[in-house]
Amino acid sequence: MEKPKIFIANPVPEDVEEFLKESCECVKWDFRYPKTLEGILENIRDVDGVIQVGMKIDDRILDNAPRLKVVSNISVGYNNYDLDAMKRRGIIGTNTPGVLDNTVSDLILGLILNSARRIPELNRFTKSGSWVKADNSDLFGKDIHGSSLGIIGMGRIGEKVARRAKLGFGMDVSYYNRSRKLEVEEELGIVYRPMEEILKISDFVLLMTPLTPETTHLVGEKELKLMKASAFLINASRGQVVDEKALIKALEEGWIAGAGLDVYEKEPIDADNPLLRLQNAVTVPHIGSATTKTRDEMAWAAAKALVDELYGKNSGMRVPELS
Ligand code: DGY
Repeated sequence: MEKPKIFIANPVPEDVEEFLKESCECVKWDFRYPKTLEGILENIRDVDGVIQVGMKIDDRILDNAPRLKVVSNISVGYNNYDLDAMKRRGIIGTNTPGVLDNTVSDLILGLILNSARRIPELNRFTKSGSWVKADNSDLFGKDIHGSSLGIIGMGRIGEKVARRAKLGFGMDVSYYNRSRKLEVEEELGIVYRPMEEILKISDFVLLMTPLTPETTHLVGEKELKLMKASAFLINASRGQVVDEKALIKALEEGWIAGAGLDVYEKEPIDADNPLLRLQNAVTVPHIGSATTKTRDEMAWAAAKALVDELYGKNSGMRVPELS
């Protein structure tokens, strides 16, 4: 049997690439350069599979990829899949749930700590030699222990965050989700509340919903105005879940105290995005899952899923809508 041909559109560790080469003919993007639509179309035209992160898989791509059978995301999120366009053509789409849950949860706690205790700002302050006067009360932050956390979107990562927040920091945790998680409520002593109530009462509001048409701009001006002026918004889901213009206004005008952000409406973020100059916005470059070990495991999971599917075996990693 002729080996299937694949396009490696994002870097994978060397051993993962070797594994892919054993079963597939591989073409690879030249990672010294940013990807372009023309380049993607050129590479995708005669391949059976693609392994990548965040590449929009829609009609524009699929019309130019007559051989394509499998797309493998090195991510748990799959909002890059145009599910209808893929379904119409019988294209299989996979993702990598599970392996990154703890790593992303750790980063979320980091965003909470960094925003509330102003760590990036105080790091700059200390390093710049500004630590000179006896009264440092203008540097005070907000306590995390004993404060309230409201999680909107209680999937696997939400649960891990709830566990850390409740057991590690003694936070008062409530959550909103499409379906209730009674076992988690009972085990951790957390409370289900309507989204509006979460926004009104929480010291920290964490967004962890997948991006869908229903969750696009789930939090805009109205929702931000419901939040306490002392509260922080943490987003590690997808940038489009928040109306970024409204968030910038909220941070500039003090409707809320601050934000901890891993994700943005446009990624990479534009250098002139006001979020980058706002002291009360802690910004990291979509690195929730980015530890060496976890990214390695994600690449392995995505590569194995791709090879399995190309050789006619159900990988068990298909996204629910395309399985
Ligand atoms: C994912 O895998 O979808 C996450 O956004 C990684 O941080």
